[in-house]
Amino acid sequence: NNSRLREKSIVLIGFMGVGKTTIGEMVAKKLYRDFIDIDQEIEKEYNMATSEIFQNIGEKAFREKEKNVISAFSKQSLKIISVGGGAFLQEEIRKVCLEHCIVIYLDLSWESWKERISLIIDSRPVLQGRSIEEIEELFYSRKPIYSLHNSKVETDNLEACEVADYIVDSLK
Ligand code: S3P
Repeated sequence: NNSRLREKSIVLIGFMGVGKTTIGEMVAKKLYRDFIDIDQEIEKEYNMATSEIFQNIGEKAFREKEKNVISAFSKQSLKIISVGGGAFLQEEIRKVCLEHCIVIYLDLSWESWKERISLIIDSRPVLQGRSIEEIEELFYSRKPIYSLHNSKVETDNLEACEVADYIVDSLK
């Protein structure tokens, strides 16, 4: 029913650097809800930056923690949750998010994404040491996993606040 739907948490998915955190914070403010950034939650638990976690503890442990943190938060209501760009690679995460939340995919074209690369790369261990061609390949190889969403926003040519407004309007 409608009120149950309105209480569902919203999960933002999409490739690294599309603006999930920025837009998620804005949506949360507009809806008077709490904002949860899963990467930040994981960083708090380890008291390390994501790149340090990858380096010192390994991606496998990061992914395991990511799964546990998302599973816990996605079952809570009325949250706005931004998940890392690799989270939906895990079937369990896809399942728990799609079962409990409204999953919104922030889409961006490769051409627009490429222009932001220098802002993104330093804090993203997954991108480091890869050529631009390899990153492009990764970008396109991830597209199918993001197609498992409840709704999609094309964010090319939109400011973050416009995307946030669009999401809030689409929930009405
Ligand atoms: C990752 C994306 C990052 C972070 C980690 C791995 C990925 O999150 O979880 O660096 O595999 O795509 P953002 O999408 O918020 O950058």
